[in-house]
Amino acid sequence: MKIRIRKCTQGDLGKVVDIERRSFKCPYTESVFLYHLLMNPDGFLVAQKDGVVVGYVIGIAMGRKGVVISLAVSPEFRRKGIGSRLINEILDCLKSTEEVDVQVRIGNRSALKFYQSVGFKKEGIIKNYYSDGEDAIIMRFKRIIS
Ligand SMILES: CC(C)(COP(=O)(O)OP(=O)(O)OC[C@H]1O[C@@H](n2cnc3c(N)ncnc32)[C@H](O)[C@@H]1OP(=O)(O)O)[C@@H](O)C(=O)NCCC(=O)NCCS
Repeated sequence: MKIRIRKCTQGDLGKVVDIERRSFKCPYTESVFLYHLLMNPDGFLVAQKDGVVVGYVIGIAMGRKGVVISLAVSPEFRRKGIGSRLINEILDCLKSTEEVDVQVRIGNRSALKFYQSVGFKKEGIIKNYYSDGEDAIIMRFKRIIS
């Protein structure tokens, strides 16, 4: 399957919001995505298949620390390696950082397995992190600095 990873544009936001709504209980709104696109255009990537956006990732570098803000793949295109492509590209964009964190709902077992499969490790827990009271697991990717 030929997948192209490229920077997000404003014209992609409708499709990104559609993927978001089909992926999360409490989806981000279009204005949140527009804010990230305007503030951090190099850290907002999409995966495209046959001209259609099928996934996205947003990551930010803050000094030595990086954070993955969000990542999702269209349900019908999951388990095909697209999430791995997106996370590896964003880790490359954040290569100035020593470590990259992401917060994942404790009940989101597939995402926890996914992040473990690409080298993240469980680092801690934040109780009642989400507005519905669910805990967050902090997953961390540490670079090997030689
Ligand atoms: C998490 C997510 C982005 C993974 O995307 P994906 O394209 O399906 O991931 P990949 O195909 O690259 O999977 C890589 C590996 O992760 C693990 N994995 C991914 N989904 C899994 C699942 N549902 N159950 C168990 N392991 C899973 C597997 O080890 C998989 O390798 P394999 O398919 O060879 O077994 C996708 O499931 C998604 O969009 N979920 C909803 C949104 C979300 O939870 N985002 C993360 C929170 S920020």
